[in-house]
Amino acid sequence: MNTSASAPIGIFDSGIGGLTVAHAIQELLPNESMVYFGDTAHLPYGDKSEAAIQAYSIKIADVLLMKGCKVIVIACNSASSAAYELLKEYVRSVKIINVIDPMVNLVLDKYAGRAVGLIGTKRTVQSGVYQRKIQEAHERITVHSLATPLLAPMIEEGFFDNKISHEIIAQYLNDPELQNIEALILACTHYPLIKKEINEFYKNKMTILDSSEVVAQALKQHLEESKLINPGIGPVNHQFLVSDYTSSFEASTRLFFHEQVNLEKHPLWGS
Ligand code: DGL
Repeated sequence: MNTSASAPIGIFDSGIGGLTVAHAIQELLPNESMVYFGDTAHLPYGDKSEAAIQAYSIKIADVLLMKGCKVIVIACNSASSAAYELLKEYVRSVKIINVIDPMVNLVLDKYAGRAVGLIGTKRTVQSGVYQRKIQEAHERITVHSLATPLLAPMIEEGFFDNKISHEIIAQYLNDPELQNIEALILACTHYPLIKKEINEFYKNKMTILDSSEVVAQALKQHLEESKLINPGIGPVNHQFLVSDYTSSFEASTRLFFHEQVNLEKHPLWGS
């Protein structure tokens, strides 16, 4: 077990989506350093098989462990649904935090007896993981889920807040499956980047549930309980690794982490 409080937090996603979680972590835990891995060579994860995502996740966990991370945050719903159980078994030395459980807890807490909608990748929606975890608690919550596979690639390309993105979003949110809901879960960490457009579609009358803050809270609680909170004696240093260089990743990283960002290419299979 890496018990050094000054060690960094490891975070990964297929691309820029997990930066929404990394940003919330930075806001809540400003003394923590992070090693962020964006698996840009393999995005989108949402269309990949469970086995492929598991293989990528294991490789990334190895990289983050080599970097000495004290905890690993799977900042991706697709990888959380496909690989969390496996990673927990594989990585015994540090805690693995997924993005699904903190959101499930929030929904159980606030929406007993009500209906919520959910949008996510095909991988996440087909896994049925949110429904299963929510139903296990017997709180009579109905989850209306819709796979929205165009959204993550669109966001990854920086292609949003324009006429076409408005239409794609409207087409999805008008789907009969998403009617009569009292809140909408953004079950993909890319989607907070289009939260404004989603709010506009609903004319600000829908509660949009974004997991970044609850995940940051869950991480904080774990670090406190394990006495792993960085006391802030040394400098904060974030590292951004990508399995393939993309200019949109660099642009988004700068958007969230204003300081000079150096992207390091780290091919997962050494190519
Ligand atoms: N951001 C990821 C998620 O939360 C993955 C999106 C993708 O690569 O398809 O599911």
